[in-house]
Amino acid sequence: MTLAVIGGTGLSDFDQVEWLEALRPQTQFGQPSAEIKRGRLSGQAEEFFFLPRHGGDHSIAPHKINYRANIAALETIGVTGILAVNAVGGLSPSMGPEALVVPDQIIDYTSARENSFFDGVAGPLDHIDFTEPYHPAARQRLLNAAKDLGIDCLDGGVYGATQGPRLETAAEVRRCRNDGCDLVGMTGMPEAALARELKLDYASLCLVVNWGAGMTEQTITLEEIHRVVERGMSNVKAVLLQALEK
Ligand code: HPA
Repeated sequence: MTLAVIGGTGLSDFDQVEWLEALRPQTQFGQPSAEIKRGRLSGQAEEFFFLPRHGGDHSIAPHKINYRANIAALETIGVTGILAVNAVGGLSPSMGPEALVVPDQIIDYTSARENSFFDGVAGPLDHIDFTEPYHPAARQRLLNAAKDLGIDCLDGGVYGATQGPRLETAAEVRRCRNDGCDLVGMTGMPEAALARELKLDYASLCLVVNWGAGMTEQTITLEEIHRVVERGMSNVKAVLLQALEK
């Protein structure tokens, strides 16, 4: 198994990692968001790849990310499994700011994104089974890593993928909650489906950075989101590094 981490908001670098090489594989869909770095954990033989999905300087908006180039590039260099990190809004009472969640389902509300390799142009017409959108073993890898470290991490939840880049209206959040969503984020799709199309084992580690719109009296500010990202990211990194070790 060759693993890659796709970093989200707040995760564009790692300490404790020795970087060995930076790759920029070309794909028929264009360039990935950034150089893909190959590295290994200090003192370990196991290597992994790292790609920040918003670009090295966090300049690519969720709806502008070239998800196909990112997933195709990872597959080209031999990646077989992906641990993705996503910053999300929390919709369930147990999933407030700073909660870590490994979701097990997705509802896709995105639109107008290049969302498939199997469109009859880039590849053949085909239909993946997506009943279970995340790979069970990849999910378990994240959950076990958190457990080993004694870090609370919730097992399961429905990720609602919204188009962005704006946050939701209160009514949209109510709809998502009525639909059964526990989390809402802008980058979970089409990334997960593209990974499945290329048969890459994919799971997501979500860091809740705010309550969904309209769920509290406060308006959601980027400053508050950044504060929570800062506080929560050390746990996210610890879980990832532990998961990569296994
Ligand atoms: N909605 C959508 N995406 C997000 C949110 C949110 O509330 N917080 C972080 N990413």
